[in-house]
Amino acid sequence: MKLLLVGSGGREHALVWKLKQSAKVDKIFCAPGNAGIAEQAECLPVKGEDIEGLLKVAKEKKVDLTVVGPEAPLTLGIVDRFSAAGLRVFGPSQAAARIEGSKAFMKDLMKKYRIPSAAFATFDSPEKAKAYLKKVGAPIVVKADGLAAGKGVILCQTLPEAEAAIDQIMVKKEFGPAGDKVVIEEFLTGEEASFLAFTDGEAVLPLASCQDHKAIFDNDQGPNTGGMGAYSPAPVVTPQIYQQIIDQVMVPTVRAMKAEGAPYRGVLYAGLMIGKGGVKVLEFNARFGDPETQPLLFRMKSDLLPLLEASADGSLKGMKIEWHDQPAVCVVMASKGYPGSYEKGFPITGLPEANALPDTFVFHAGTALKDGKVVTAGGRVLGVTARGKDIKAAIDRTYQAVKKIRWDGAYYRTDIGRKALVRKRV
Ligand code: AMP
Ligand code: GLY
Repeated sequence: MKLLLVGSGGREHALVWKLKQSAKVDKIFCAPGNAGIAEQAECLPVKGEDIEGLLKVAKEKKVDLTVVGPEAPLTLGIVDRFSAAGLRVFGPSQAAARIEGSKAFMKDLMKKYRIPSAAFATFDSPEKAKAYLKKVGAPIVVKADGLAAGKGVILCQTLPEAEAAIDQIMVKKEFGPAGDKVVIEEFLTGEEASFLAFTDGEAVLPLASCQDHKAIFDNDQGPNTGGMGAYSPAPVVTPQIYQQIIDQVMVPTVRAMKAEGAPYRGVLYAGLMIGKGGVKVLEFNARFGDPETQPLLFRMKSDLLPLLEASADGSLKGMKIEWHDQPAVCVVMASKGYPGSYEKGFPITGLPEANALPDTFVFHAGTALKDGKVVTAGGRVLGVTARGKDIKAAIDRTYQAVKKIRWDGAYYRTDIGRKALVRKRV
């Protein structure tokens, strides 16, 4: 089979790496890809948002299945466009991708179908939003309604901070039209986990549990990023919590989407807060997580391709996934300055040495080739990933690999996976 992978991050490199191992796969194209992906797939210079351009290459290259990594093409309707043209594609329709594309849609859905989530209110004027803030007080969470690359969520400890957040989103329009509406949410406490499941609109097939690290600095300090590291499994998801997630979140959400006339096919990602009151949904994403996909696929023993095909074709019922028992950890190495502004173009050294460690692989995110050398080309640059006999061994091996890699201004968190270690001791 010939595949087209859409995207250019660490998630897409992990997908290409895993799909390349499938006996059924003859060739993978990736649009636009990165320097690491280029070693395993043919990269094509078409952007993820260029739906017509992607359709053209999918037809030209006689692609059998297109797999969409990021949210932007999904919310632009790539799945509807490809399906209408008779092409097979993995991912939700534009209507179903609203579960990520509009926080107001997602929150209304959860309220209607009693899916546990933070209390909230939605506003389309800053004055009304501020009047509401005065009523409910702080701490509180202020979110831009639309897509803002994971940065449109502002956690506010005080009322003035919350008012400033409203101005940032609705008045200064720092996230553009994503800030036309604002969602104000109850501040939840607890420990976060990411939970992903394949679904064909009916059947729900969960992946292993995992946990992301959203903040830029150690101990979850500083602004949020797209994710600075992840590990799987996440011990915060006990067997009891796992069952709650399936029964109260994943299955009801898939049913709700069908009942709303927007059946969800693809991978559904729930960002969860696990606290005293049980499980609550922070957000849904209409795609694989990044960096969660790196440790998840590093632990997946089963062939990924039949799972993607079954989700796209509606034949997921009865399928199973096998996992390595060993935990996997991914540490993101980023450019100095990320998630703010940063410079690009620094040569990266030590990649072969890191990849030579056992059960270790360096997934590329923001990298490019310049004069035959791998250079930095984005905020999140690499996702260094390893397995170990237990979580401690996996963490140690991952950081051993990280320390072999260098460039001018490389930054990474030093505490990825620590929550799993601490939890084990209690
Ligand atoms: P979101 O993109 O909505 O998942 O938000 C990004 C991050 O902000 C989450 O991973 C949480 O760390 C934090 N967050 C979002 N909503 C809340 C909330 N209601 N209470 C506490 N933290 C939150
Ligand atoms: N790692 C968070 C996300 O993929 O949205």
